Amino acid sequence: MTSIKNKTVWLTGASSGIGFALAHQLADKGARLILTSRREKQLEELRQSLPNSEQHQVLALDLSQPEQAKETASGALADKHVDILINNAGVSQRSLAMETDLAVYRTLMEVDYFSVVALNQVVLPSMVQRGDGHIVTVSSVAGKVGTKLRSGYSGAKFAVIGYMDCLRAEMTEHNVCCTTVLPGFVHTQIAHNALTGDGSLRGSEDQDNAGGISPQQCAADIIRAIETNKAEVISGKGMSKVAPLLQRFLPGLLRKMLANR
Ligand SMILES: NC(=O)c1ccc[n+]([C@@H]2O[C@H](COP(=O)([O-])OP(=O)(O)OC[C@H]3O[C@@H](n4cnc5c(N)ncnc54)[C@H](OP(=O)(O)O)[C@@H]3O)[C@@H](O)[C@H]2O)c1
Repeated sequence: MTSIKNKTVWLTGASSGIGFALAHQLADKGARLILTSRREKQLEELRQSLPNSEQHQVLALDLSQPEQAKETASGALADKHVDILINNAGVSQRSLAMETDLAVYRTLMEVDYFSVVALNQVVLPSMVQRGDGHIVTVSSVAGKVGTKLRSGYSGAKFAVIGYMDCLRAEMTEHNVCCTTVLPGFVHTQIAHNALTGDGSLRGSEDQDNAGGISPQQCAADIIRAIETNKAEVISGKGMSKVAPLLQRFLPGLLRKMLANR
């Protein structure tokens, strides 16, 4: 069992939802946090609300610009050693494939895929040098099962699972752990913040997410996966939890169900 206590954890998407819950639970376990998202004010308020607030740091980054985020983070974290990076920030989509601007597909890939690649490159060299570290990436059940209105989101989340599988194979000899998290529906702002076909925000809840597990439960699942060094973990309930199993063992049935949804 790996202990979180006194570990330096770089957490993206800390200002909301699963990341916000993770920040509280990790701080309660004695981690020193580097809190990342775009909204610096929210991150600063979060930092001040955490136990041992002076141990934590805010690092605001826009992950839709991965090259710039990588450069800024490399400078800001040059004298730190990060024990655990949790790539949790993400943006979803609610729009039909034939009605979605190419620019929206690119934004989804920048935030949900390329930023993961970029931030990992910030921390991997020192993890490999030390022979110790943990990369955690929050993908989605949508990274195993494609459903309506999420073609760009699913594309990026499928991609990041493949990337993490390759990274795990490369990192095993360096003792750097790689965990991929697949949440099902979680009750957060994800649907509200989802992009529509023209790139504007959806701006409203969605029943699936509203009926999902709490972000606190998802955060607890993620922390358990880190402590027990799981390669891949699904966090959810009901259909969103069993869909990857159906995909594997009853793919024809699942296809029919998803087309009729
Ligand atoms: N909720 C679900 O049902 C569900 C299911 C499967 C997977 N997930 C995944 O779980 C992760 C967390 O999502 P959530 O449900 O907690 O959603 P959320 O409440 O919308 O939070 C998303 C987080 O990502 C950050 N973010 C978004 N765009 C960013 C950008 N361009 N640069 C930097 N940070 C950015 C947001 O911070 P700022 O706005 O401050 O930048 C926020 O902290 C995501 O990767 C999501 O895909 C969620």
